[in-house]
Amino acid sequence: MDETDFRRLGHQLIDWIADYRSTLEARPVMSQVAPGEIRRRLPAAPPEAAESLADLPGELEATILPGITHWNHPRFCAYFPSNTDLASVLGDLISSGLGVQGMSWQTSPAATEVEQVMMDWLRQMLGLPPAFTGVIQDTASTATLVALLCARERGGEVVYASDQAHSSVAKAARLCGLELRSIASDEDLALSPAALDAAMAEDAAAGRRPCAVVATTGTTASVALDPIAAVAGLARRHGAWLHVDAAMAGSAMILPECRWMWAGVEEADSLVLNPHKWLGVGFDYSAYFVRDPRQLVSVMSTSPSYLRTAQDGAVANLRDWGLPLGRRFRALKLWLVVRASGVAGLQARLRRDLANAQWLKAEVDAAPDWQRLAPVHLQTVCLRHRAADNLALVERVNRGGRTYLTPAILRGAQAIRVSIGALGTERRHVAEVWEAMREAARA
Ligand SMILES: Cc1ncc(COP(=O)(O)O)c(C=O)c1O
Repeated sequence: MDETDFRRLGHQLIDWIADYRSTLEARPVMSQVAPGEIRRRLPAAPPEAAESLADLPGELEATILPGITHWNHPRFCAYFPSNTDLASVLGDLISSGLGVQGMSWQTSPAATEVEQVMMDWLRQMLGLPPAFTGVIQDTASTATLVALLCARERGGEVVYASDQAHSSVAKAARLCGLELRSIASDEDLALSPAALDAAMAEDAAAGRRPCAVVATTGTTASVALDPIAAVAGLARRHGAWLHVDAAMAGSAMILPECRWMWAGVEEADSLVLNPHKWLGVGFDYSAYFVRDPRQLVSVMSTSPSYLRTAQDGAVANLRDWGLPLGRRFRALKLWLVVRASGVAGLQARLRRDLANAQWLKAEVDAAPDWQRLAPVHLQTVCLRHRAADNLALVERVNRGGRTYLTPAILRGAQAIRVSIGALGTERRHVAEVWEAMREAARA
């Protein structure tokens, strides 16, 4: 593509994205296509000759959009918020336009240094002490794998996590060749320190050394809060690494009034949260903080002759801070999002979402046919209809297009999760989602 075509098409596509965002509300939230439907719209083989892209916006409308589930739709309430603020879209555009490969400091000093500054901005926004140093990983799953690889170097063979921990913890333990011990959660679905203590003591007595504990701030199914301070004390006593998975809920820690939820986090060896969930930074941007970056680098670094540069030793080569060699210039996204909203703007949006969740909680608690299944700490409300087949109800609501909800099983009960927090979600959207659910239950 030459620069003339790029300019023309690029301007058109910026308009197209802006129009898409402003008309989102009129679209069904969950894609309504059947398996194979999008695939059939595409030629099976690549074009031999160059093709015109002049009608790309039209093609996107006809071929791609029907197969899009709209994560930024104001009535999107599935899984977790995965917001991409338009400022973040521009950050990605700049990153691609520059075509940066930031594997080493020398391969683009700005990529490394902006990332270092952005991770420190984020640390300050979260109220974390200066003892933490951050680096971007692609996902929380990778960050947790990196954490357990680092923990393994310190010894031990057993990893502990609550039965509510995300599946990425089990995957990481398996990939590290470590044994995972799943600890029963308490009535609030949080990790029970007494049960953890008993399991660690039992293993230690049997000669199985505790390696790491993964505590979750905001579990995936119900946003339960493991008691970090108590868990940190046990991890320390047993010589185990403490990794805190705050993938979704971590964004809320930009609100000082939420920080009690991870009290004790300053004792963690490592910590992950995903600004690519609730904060508005487009996927992917997972923030990984460690207390001892030298240990991280000692586990992750390689120094083949073809990667050495004159500055090694004087600079951070971020390829040595994680698994991949190649690195995008992702810090641009956080840079633009924080500047375009300001910390106060981000805080206001999250507080709006917390208030909307409390509103829905009160509605559910007042509805005799519905039962709430977990505490509402942040933006997720877990509930069930007392008489309906709740899985069928979710399917019916999603097929109707008014919202997109996902299920989970909590203590054996089929729950519907209403995860609030898309960028454009106002009270009226939450009220519409609640109405769609009640209508589906009446049908
Ligand atoms: C608590 C928790 N940990 C980890 C993950 C995985 O996140 P990622 O997709 O960044 O690997 C999730 C995603 O839902 C999560 O809720």
